[in-house]
Amino acid sequence: MGFLGKIFGSTNKEEKTMSKLNIGIILGSTRDGRVSPQVGEWVKGIADKRGDANYEIVDIADFKLPFLGTTDGTEPGIAAWNEKLASLDGFVFIVQEYNHSITGALKNAIDFAREAWNNKAAGIVSYGSTGGARAAEHLRGIMGELLIADVRVHPTLSLFTDFENFSVFKPQDLHLDNVNAMLDQVVAWSGALKVLR
Ligand SMILES: Cc1cc2nc3c(=O)[nH]c(=O)nc-3n(C[C@H](O)[C@H](O)[C@H](O)COP(=O)(O)O)c2cc1C
Repeated sequence: MGFLGKIFGSTNKEEKTMSKLNIGIILGSTRDGRVSPQVGEWVKGIADKRGDANYEIVDIADFKLPFLGTTDGTEPGIAAWNEKLASLDGFVFIVQEYNHSITGALKNAIDFAREAWNNKAAGIVSYGSTGGARAAEHLRGIMGELLIADVRVHPTLSLFTDFENFSVFKPQDLHLDNVNAMLDQVVAWSGALKVLR
């Protein structure tokens, strides 16, 4: 029994469900001029208003990950990336469509961790000419291998109607309910899977 349990008579299992969850909003693109930070900040703004979890932006670019297979694994960013993921209970992937799939940068970053992904939940917010739907479906297949439980609700943003000049993010109001519904599911499943871990 932990400290809180001694005071309130709860078990470790109950304590695990009581503390606020940590949800990472992962930016999937790293190129110069990318729009993913705008989308990630918008999701974080909506998420923070809920007050139901600790939400943070996790930018793959910050970790300066090498290309898998070209390294002996000693770059500090690799360990830092794994530690960051390990500290999170769930994820929201900001996914952009590159040649009908996710970016190479996101796939590379995903491949640099394994256990830190397992038994956690994730949602997807995607964008592209068709809402990034094809990239998002590829990511769902990858998540299955990593024991990440991907939730159903999936806000899809259009490069044509949610961005000005494909570069300035101006989301339509209709996405707000979808983002909240996606977060409802991510928080619920992240809490359930924390007990399992
Ligand atoms: C290499 C590359 C391939 C792309 N392929 C697609 C595509 O297949 N389908 C699509 O809808 N958009 C495609 N796009 C457009 C991107 O979705 C768009 O540029 C988006 O802003 C990229 O996200 P980012 O700005 O965060 O990097 C592609 C962009 C790049 C750079």
